[in-house]
Amino acid sequence: MTAPKPSSLAFVPFVSVANMMEIVHRIGLENMLRDLAEYIEDDFRRWELFDKTPRVASHSAEGVIELMPTSDGEVYGFKYVNGHPKNMKEGLQTVTAFGLLADVGTGYPVLLSEMTVLTALRTAATSAMVAKHLAPKGSKTMAMIGNGAQSEFQALAFKAICGISSVRLYDIDPAATKKAMQNLEGWGLSVTACRTPEDAIEGAAIITTCTADKQYATILTDNMVGAGVHINAIGGDCPGKTELHKDILLRSDIFVEFPPQTRIEGEIQQLDEDYPVTEMWQVINGEVQGRRDNRQITLFDGVGFAIEDFSALRYIRSKLEETGLYQKLDMVADPDDPRDLFGMVQRAKS
Ligand SMILES: NC(=O)c1ccc[n+]([C@@H]2O[C@H](COP(=O)([O-])OP(=O)(O)OC[C@H]3O[C@@H](n4cnc5c(N)ncnc54)[C@H](O)[C@@H]3O)[C@@H](O)[C@H]2O)c1
Repeated sequence: MTAPKPSSLAFVPFVSVANMMEIVHRIGLENMLRDLAEYIEDDFRRWELFDKTPRVASHSAEGVIELMPTSDGEVYGFKYVNGHPKNMKEGLQTVTAFGLLADVGTGYPVLLSEMTVLTALRTAATSAMVAKHLAPKGSKTMAMIGNGAQSEFQALAFKAICGISSVRLYDIDPAATKKAMQNLEGWGLSVTACRTPEDAIEGAAIITTCTADKQYATILTDNMVGAGVHINAIGGDCPGKTELHKDILLRSDIFVEFPPQTRIEGEIQQLDEDYPVTEMWQVINGEVQGRRDNRQITLFDGVGFAIEDFSALRYIRSKLEETGLYQKLDMVADPDDPRDLFGMVQRAKS
């Protein structure tokens, strides 16, 4: 007996890493960052209708594995993501991810996708979209502290979305800075390698911290941060893992994604549980003011929230037909008689 062939209902579109890279080149990296920022901003505008929960984290001595679910009532999505700072020294990625969308009406999956590359893109698009609302108008220079896997995506998102023209790089490991220098060549940015974080922030209106360490770190001390800057702090995203000295937080207006998650994982874990913060979706909807004046320090305490991944998957799904860059995975069992799952299995016996 030959195994029954899967029906069309069995197949779920799957975007592999190879296909994701091809999508990036087909659309163009900066176009894709701009598109993703629009999708993310649209979902921040309808923030209230989403199911929201802090991500479900499983911590170990080496790192964390997390599930990030959400739904807009029609489509459900989740991302699986890890964070293992020691991986890099073993030749592995600090962050790897994949994600899924499903139809709320049937519960059937409608997309499975790699999200290691997509997470870097969505994180950069989110940071730049937020900075568009908070950073001083006309900001041209960004300091980029931490020159690992996320860094070039951040630099190019700030160019494409906020119009920066110059990036000042610093990493404790000069090899990381050298890699980022080389990768950013020919992208139309003026790039400077700096020897110290103090040197990197010289003249920068935007400071991005994107370092990986499983501990409280002080990437920026209070005296390094002058009036009027926007800080995009995205590397501290776990309990016990922060990047900024507490005094900087006390001088800043703090903007977050979803407070119940950020209070556990973000820079604000250093502050009292009820310390006032502003939710970014309210700024985007015009309900709350973002930047008030040119002396204010704005801080985006970005930890990465499920809705941003949902937006990114929604975008990739919208590109499937146009690009054809996916495979069909036989992922859903589809017996002729829905109650005859057993019979379907038996008929597959060789
Ligand atoms: N907020 C979000 O949405 C979001 C999304 C993805 C990743 N992240 C976090 O961003 C961080 C960076 O991710 P990545 O994939 O680029 O990691 P990575 O390991 O590729 O790079 C991290 C870099 O930080 C450098 N570094 C460590 N300590 C430093 C210090 N004190 N000063 C300067 N540089 C230092 C390392 O040398 C390394 O080059 C991770 O902590 C990750 O969990 C956050």
